[in-house]
Amino acid sequence: MSEAQIGVYGLGTMGSALALNMAEHGFDVAVTNREREWITAFVKEAGPLAERLHPKEELDAFVASLKTPRIILFMIPSGAPMDAMIGTIAPLLEPGDTIIDGGNADFHATRRRAAELAERDLHFVGMGVSGGEKGARHGPSMMVGGSDHSWQQLKPILRAIAARFEGDPCVDHLGPDGAGHFVKTVHNGIEYADMQMIAEVYGLLRYGAARTPSEIGAMFARWDQGRLKSYLIEITAKVLTYADPESGHPMVDVIKDAAGQKGTGRWTVVEAVRLGQSANMIEAAVGARSWSSEKTVRMAAERILGGTRGALELSDDTLAEAFLAARILGYAQGFRILASASQEYDWTLDFARIAEVWRAGCIIRSALLDDISEAFRGGDLAEGQLILAPKMTQILEKCLPALRQVVAAAVAGGHAVPALGAALAFFDTMRQGYGTANIIQAQRDFFGYHGFERLGQEGRHHGPWWD
Ligand code: 6PG
Repeated sequence: MSEAQIGVYGLGTMGSALALNMAEHGFDVAVTNREREWITAFVKEAGPLAERLHPKEELDAFVASLKTPRIILFMIPSGAPMDAMIGTIAPLLEPGDTIIDGGNADFHATRRRAAELAERDLHFVGMGVSGGEKGARHGPSMMVGGSDHSWQQLKPILRAIAARFEGDPCVDHLGPDGAGHFVKTVHNGIEYADMQMIAEVYGLLRYGAARTPSEIGAMFARWDQGRLKSYLIEITAKVLTYADPESGHPMVDVIKDAAGQKGTGRWTVVEAVRLGQSANMIEAAVGARSWSSEKTVRMAAERILGGTRGALELSDDTLAEAFLAARILGYAQGFRILASASQEYDWTLDFARIAEVWRAGCIIRSALLDDISEAFRGGDLAEGQLILAPKMTQILEKCLPALRQVVAAAVAGGHAVPALGAALAFFDTMRQGYGTANIIQAQRDFFGYHGFERLGQEGRHHGPWWD
């Protein structure tokens, strides 16, 4: 008997949380998992919500329990497991059914899967889900790709379970095939840059101004009351107040300074480069995580090269202004990648809507995103660039001197600020109408007869060094 409006396959942290969220909003959810013992345990722990959950141990019973056209959400590792599951479940489905991949996936794979399934009249949706376990349980931000047909099926459920910003559900159909997964990938790239810059500010205060973690946490908590209000600032403020129950030391001091990364930040950088862009702040953040994992090399280098860092005198206000300018530049780099991809893949992405979908529920939610969506809605961005929207240029004009001051002081004092420094390099490069690539062109022509364009003249030219 068909009893469920949606099926969830994969009852790990995110899958369970999403299934419970749907059940809480009154949807009947069929649930299953590769390890069968998880299914009963999950339903048992669901309390009164169990009423809406329909546990199925066998895949055919799971599929048969779904209303048609079916919707099946997979919350399993991306890559080979996803392909294997598609292979197993597709023969049980009928034209018009939709399979959703709700994990972080490479959008090229999503495009391929959507095209393969379309040949069988099946729909494949790549959906970015942000907000971690709490978000998934009580209101994630969701970036949906795939066909209009699938969006019509999914819309009522996703709008009901999404986070809300002033009543507006933070979910939308952003474009076909891989658009949803791509937007989520770029979201994560921005997330990496923002996290790195917060870490850099922490480092400047901790090692340049001898502030304690709790003092720095208190500053971030103040930032979170103003224009820098955001989830990442909020949690960093909290993290810095904790003491290690074992040693009594600040918790951050007992955590090894080697960052993990699952790949989405790297994908953003790789795609940016493929699209002929440079998201140098995101690259700096990915690179900083890679360098951080070379702990033994860094320890040896500190011994041999010296690790001294100079004292800094930077006010909290200067740091806050610098951070605001850099944060705008980080978002701007993300939107530039989205713009290139939108063109390349014919997605017609709506940047204002993407900013709106990010205003609540997701990891990069911040007060600034409301201004960013307004800037895109206003449409008066020269060359389509976020940094050239009047609202943004005003902030940049006011805050850029602070960014320059912070980066200059950090560099002079030997403090590494790869992402803040990249923000400044991006800004200073882009504000020059005539840069220095004329030299590169001259060199290329000199050694390889590559030719160059001449200002004000058509055609390809060569220098007098060839006469
Ligand atoms: C989110 C997060 C989430 C997660 C990733 C990134 O939006 O909820 O981005 O998807 O944090 O797993 O993790 P890494 O830092 O390991 O790349």
